[in-house]
Formats: sequence, C-alpha cells, structure tokens
Amino acid sequence: MNALEIARLVRDWAPGIAPKIGVVLGSGLGGFADRIEDAQAVPYGDLPGFPRSGVSGHAGELVLGRIGGVEVAALSGRAHFYEHGNPREMAVPIATLAALGVETLILTNAAGSLREEVGSGSVMMITDHVALGPNPLIGVGGDERFVSMVDAYHPGLRALAREAADAAGVELAEGVYMWFTGPSFETPAEIRMARVLGADAVGMSTVPETILARHAGLRVLAFSMITNLGAGMTGRALSHAETKHEATAGGARMGALLEAVVRRLGATAR
Ligand code: HPA
Repeated sequence: MNALEIARLVRDWAPGIAPKIGVVLGSGLGGFADRIEDAQAVPYGDLPGFPRSGVSGHAGELVLGRIGGVEVAALSGRAHFYEHGNPREMAVPIATLAALGVETLILTNAAGSLREEVGSGSVMMITDHVALGPNPLIGVGGDERFVSMVDAYHPGLRALAREAADAAGVELAEGVYMWFTGPSFETPAEIRMARVLGADAVGMSTVPETILARHAGLRVLAFSMITNLGAGMTGRALSHAETKHEATAGGARMGALLEAVVRRLGATAR
C-alpha cells in the first residue's frame, strides 16, 4: 500500500479532519495527545508500514483531531534506528502525513543536555543537528535525495515558536542536537567529544525523521525535552527509567509549548 492509499484509510477513520500540522511525540511525551479535541486514534497496527514499536513509553497510534480549532495529526510513538538498525523506520508514517496534506512537522524527543545551565525539565528548540548514524535516504533514487540541510529546522517556524513560547511564558533554550544511535547511552568521553563538536544536546531519534521530512517537502520544527545532563557530567549513571520519568514530569511544559505553537501556526499563514 502506498502513502496515498494509507492516507485514504486514515481519512476513513477521521472524516472531516484535514491536518496541515503533524506532531511526533517522543518518549514520555504522549500526554500531549490528551489535549487533542474530537480525537480519533488509529492504532499503528491497523496502518500498513507503520512501526510496531517495542519501546516502553511509546503508545503507537496516530491521533487526529483539533487543538484550539486547528487540525492536527499526532504520531504518538515512534520507532528508533536502534530497534532494527533501519534509519527508514519512520518513512511510511511521515509519507502518510504528507499524503494527508500535512505541511509542517513538529518533532519532539527526550534528550540529554550538554549545558549545565540547561538542566532536566528544560525545553530546547533544535536549531541544527549533527548525525552520528546512517542517512535514511541511502538507497533512495532520484535527484531529490540530495536534500539541502541548510535551515532544515525552518527559521520562520523557529521565530514563530519563540514568539509562542514567550507569549505562553514557557522558557525555551536553543541548540544543536547530536544524534547517537543508542540504545546504550553515550560514554563520558563521547559526551566530551559532542561538546567539542558543537552539540548542545544528545539523543537517539529525530535526525532521521528530519531528513525524511525534508525529503518529503515538509517544513520541520523540533524540540527536545531535557531529561538529564550528559553522561559523566554528574557522576551518576543514566537510565531509560529516568528518561521516561523526567520526560513525563516535564510533559506539561512541552505540551503547553506545543499547544501554543499549533494555535499560533493555525492563526497565521506562515
Ligand atoms: N543520551 C541519549 N539519549 C537520551 C539521553 C541521553 O543522555 N537522555 C534522553 N535521551
């Protein structure tokens, strides 16, 4: 089944919803889906080519509905490269969003901060990234594969998000996200390397999705929920339990920001 056919399936589940905004909800951030009004949830299991995610903290459903009257499609639960070693895990969901008419994709994740002053509970807007894993467009044909990654995180959307955050009273850091494949956390030496290379946060997702989304012609905006400081910065061991707990604890702040961004996007023609 191609993306257009899957999009038709989705429309049958949620007739009357024509979202221009898509959101990918990362680890522990699924609570945002509760803010969606008139929500219709389609389990990934009913959508061909969607991931069967095995990571705890991820629901695995496509939720369609409205935020303040603005139509949205939220991918609650993502697949990661580290599950099967395939950087294209999210290709079908992203292509499906594009086929549904989505033009703007907002990506969220949980991440470790490399800056002491941006601690657990902070939200960081991603301004750029460094990929330490394979490109999801390897093996894809056509000249469109040579995607420009200048301004991959759309400057106009970033300005809009900044305004929305200020108006909503949500503190928003900014920085470069470095993608490590995981699933083991980084070593302290890798964290020192990441700092030298100009990263502000590290995580195990998002970058393949940004590249896939840019290839699909979508505008991208991305936010990290900071759940910890990078390995070795505190002397404590890292754990997935901490990631989930801290992401859920900060979820209300991320949710408020996402809602403010969606409302503002809906109110402007940007
Ligand atoms: N490293 C990688 N991924 C993460 C981290 C981290 O420190 N925290 C949450 N996700």
